[in-house]
Amino acid sequence: MSGSTPEQPAPAAYLPLLFGFALNQIAGVTSRLGVPDLLGEKALTAEELATGTGAHPGFLLRLLRAATAAGLLTQDAEGRFALTPLGGMYRTDSPVQAAPLDAMHAAPAVWQAWGALEQSVRTGQPAFELVHGTGLFDHLKGAPELAAVFHSAMAAGSAVQLPAITKGFDFSRFAHVTDVGGGNGTHLAAILAANPHLRGTVFDTANGILEAPEVLAAAGVADRCTTEAGSFFEHVPAGADAYLLKNILHDWNDDENRRILDNCRTAMGPNGRVVVFTSVLSEGRPDQDPVEALGAAVFDIEMMVVTTGRERTLTEFEHLFAAAGLRLAQVTPLPCPFLYYALEAVPA
Ligand SMILES: C[S@@+](CC[C@H](N)C(=O)[O-])C[C@H]1O[C@@H](n2cnc3c(N)ncnc32)[C@H](O)[C@@H]1O
Repeated sequence: MSGSTPEQPAPAAYLPLLFGFALNQIAGVTSRLGVPDLLGEKALTAEELATGTGAHPGFLLRLLRAATAAGLLTQDAEGRFALTPLGGMYRTDSPVQAAPLDAMHAAPAVWQAWGALEQSVRTGQPAFELVHGTGLFDHLKGAPELAAVFHSAMAAGSAVQLPAITKGFDFSRFAHVTDVGGGNGTHLAAILAANPHLRGTVFDTANGILEAPEVLAAAGVADRCTTEAGSFFEHVPAGADAYLLKNILHDWNDDENRRILDNCRTAMGPNGRVVVFTSVLSEGRPDQDPVEALGAAVFDIEMMVVTTGRERTLTEFEHLFAAAGLRLAQVTPLPCPFLYYALEAVPA
């Protein structure tokens, strides 16, 4: 620093802070217009893409330039656009899919909730409830299109976490696992496919399990898996030796989680376990990868905006378990983004 002039931060540091929302829309609109699927492995001009998408040619060209600057596309000397590996994640046939997650965040009900973040922080009320007068999961009951978008997004998120869970966690000691809040069954289908001895149950709301029979059949595990609709605030099916809660506890506040965990403890019997797959917030560890830490922290804000929940530190998880008569027995780090772990709890 020279004299009294403060050092200016590099634009690279503040550009995402100013324009993060715009980058989300640039990627999302490029994806929703179908540009990634039209391109596939090819290179096409803006005019060809305008014909294929039906979009306004001049405005589409500007969007394509912005998507190129954002790293999703390349543009050659003849003006033709092609996908980068990052842009390829928005193809509907990509093994790791960005488009469903993008569609969920860009859905008007979710986008509007983010617009109420300030009100949320000032009042301590979840933004989604402030804007829509009801929580996300109650809202989904009356919004089948958004529910379908939401459950596809959860399944796409699972595709990133599943290899880490199936390889990094030992299911050989269990005979029957119940995936509580298991959504469309993507998670349990992959676990059963990787563990031929195992039987399972997907438990979720009626709209949550709507597509589960199809997903389980496609994975070839339908004969070892049942589905059950219900609310984990009322009961959890008995008879499993492990109750999986993947990305569930972060949706709810401590009292709500006590009811979910109480119901799991009642269902599981004295030798059962609850296995929570979750991000765990760092407790101020200086050795944390900054991108990992930012991802986990942003998820926490997403939970503040969209749900009554939050991301938690390990100590906070221990308190949650203790309130439901459980004890944290084992912590397994999983090779997966955003400080992801398996936390096993047993009756205290
Ligand atoms: C964040 S998603 C996680 C889905 C899935 N476990 C995963 O990791 O992809 C939360 C899930 O909880 C389900 N859910 C919400 N309220 C529920 C309730 N009262 N009883 C059972 N499931 C519920 C939702 O339908 C949704 O599938």
